[in-house]
Amino acid sequence: MAKLAHAQWSSRMGFVLAAAGSAVGLGNIWRFSYMTGESGGAAFVLVYLACVALVGLPILVAEWMIGRRGQKNPINTMADLAKQNGKSPAWALIGASGVLAAFLILSFYSVIGGWSLNYTLGSVIGTFNGQDADSIADLFGGMLASPSTLLLWHSAFMLLVVGIVARGVTKGLESAARLMMPALIVLMLILVGYGVASGYFGETLAFMFRPDWSALTGGVVLAAMGQAFFTLSLGMGIMMAYGSYLGEDVNLISTARTVIILDTAIALLAGLAIFPIVFANGLGAGEGPGLIFVTLPLAFGNMAGGTILGLMFFLLLTFAALTSAISLLEPAVEMLEERTSLSRVMATLVSGIAVWLLGVAALLSFNVWSDVLLFGLNIFDFLDTFTSKVLLPLTGLGAIVFVAWCFKRESVEAELGLSATGISVWNIIARYVAPAGVVIVFVTGLI
Ligand code: PHE
Ligand code: NA
Repeated sequence: MAKLAHAQWSSRMGFVLAAAGSAVGLGNIWRFSYMTGESGGAAFVLVYLACVALVGLPILVAEWMIGRRGQKNPINTMADLAKQNGKSPAWALIGASGVLAAFLILSFYSVIGGWSLNYTLGSVIGTFNGQDADSIADLFGGMLASPSTLLLWHSAFMLLVVGIVARGVTKGLESAARLMMPALIVLMLILVGYGVASGYFGETLAFMFRPDWSALTGGVVLAAMGQAFFTLSLGMGIMMAYGSYLGEDVNLISTARTVIILDTAIALLAGLAIFPIVFANGLGAGEGPGLIFVTLPLAFGNMAGGTILGLMFFLLLTFAALTSAISLLEPAVEMLEERTSLSRVMATLVSGIAVWLLGVAALLSFNVWSDVLLFGLNIFDFLDTFTSKVLLPLTGLGAIVFVAWCFKRESVEAELGLSATGISVWNIIARYVAPAGVVIVFVTGLI
């Protein structure tokens, strides 16, 4: 994006694709399904949906507003806008904590992107054909237990990300998303169809949508909010950066709605595809981060045309992970490019290597460092938990509070193009509902 010298997205469609490229990724398929399984199903899903609508949507709009007003990278944009509105320069910290969050997330995201690459190859060579649940689980366990395998695939994934970002060819990928995104949806629908045929679809629907509210703890609510931030790429300044490329004529609220519906639909489809396989094979829904890797290959390995469908699925998942990963590396690269004398290629290499190293620590937590604990969590879980449950919500909270309380009314009107009633509704949501939601969830989750 830096190379575009602030050219604006040619069309709303181009912008939606770029934002969806960042939003739709491992978060929808890998993370949503394993978090849902781990957190007991429907109660988690329903709170997640509420968070997406009541907190995610306003914060997405707020981040885009900030970006479009400020027209710079998140740190400078926040500094400028704070100054213009007579507020403390400390607001720039929001931009900085976003860059940090993106950096931390990418380190473990790349490890999972590597799993997806590995499973793409596994599908090509037919590793999963005709295997039963036990052998699929053994394959996954074998990968986790092998630092060298994890290292190989994490490195391969990071190499792809660095290569793409260094060459500044992310635009090309965004146009590829035009084809890949619908293809991914079609494949998910095929998988859901397979789930319906398996006879466990009713159980899946009940698991995902009929809540057992006794499962609802502060921890589950915080996890659900964290998932909403993670999946929508919020609280990282990423959407803020995108907003700076957004034409004045684009309607923020309807565009946000489009991106959110797309992202949410893909997550729900993933759940509807995965849990029938879980129930049909007597697997545990609370399997953890491996959930999609011990379920989907089982379906592909045993369905007609499964080899080619499995290959396509993991290829598309890897692609979706790549477009998200690129958006995660971009902020650190841009910051280095601006604040140091490094060229784009060097800035990409430096940040890529730093992320890669942290990723190595994350992948070792699945085997040799499994008992290295930070606050009682292994390194992988710590990185995931600290970013999704602390950094993202707090940064997102900062963004919405800033827009709601520090922006001049005229700016809000100009940005949102709403009627007077619309503005009042916006104000209630942006000033009270969303911030209170974040704070309450955050505090109850910590207790
Ligand atoms: N939203 C992406 C996903 O769901 C992950 C991501 C998070 C990307 C934060 C960019 C920023 O996979
Ligand atoms: Na997502």
